[in-house]
Amino acid sequence: MPLSFIDEIGGKDCIKRVHKILYDKLLSHPWLKGFFVGVERWVLEDQQTDFMADLFGQKPAGFCGRLPMRAHQHLYITEEVFMIRHNLLAESLTEAKIPDDYKERWLKHDLGMMAAIVKTSVDECEGRYRTEKVLVVPKPA
Ligand code: HEM
Repeated sequence: MPLSFIDEIGGKDCIKRVHKILYDKLLSHPWLKGFFVGVERWVLEDQQTDFMADLFGQKPAGFCGRLPMRAHQHLYITEEVFMIRHNLLAESLTEAKIPDDYKERWLKHDLGMMAAIVKTSVDECEGRYRTEKVLVVPKPA
């Protein structure tokens, strides 16, 4: 049986290593940090890691959170915001010394999530539960 992508890159530990670097960047980014206020860092890192591990072919699947469309429906994430995160992920993969061909495949998986997460208008956002407010983070001047 051919190796799945997660086996090729070195398992979940490799994904964790990359996400640690990524969240250092996201949580200190002048604009993007505003999206994560009030959410515990370990939750973000663990959920992101479990989700990507499944996407990369982990068996048996381990992610038990909300799927991306539902998880982000209250967040006004534009293509610009998505691409800033995507580029920070690219930098994180380089810093983690992930070989170029794996880096390319990883980034392709990441771009595959775009349609589920990006909105073109704030009207497309909706709280995940009845009392939740939509979160719009204005771009800093
Ligand atoms: C490929 C892109 C992305 C993937 C795969 C992804 C994946 C995830 C996952 C799996 C969760 C946890 C879901 C749950 O169980 O509730 C999550 C939560 C979250 N994501 Fe993302 N995400 C992506 C892009 C983004 C972007 C661009 C932002 C905003 C800058 C963002 C902000 C958040 C926030 C704030 C949460 C926590 C929501 C909460 O629990 O209150 N994500 N993401």
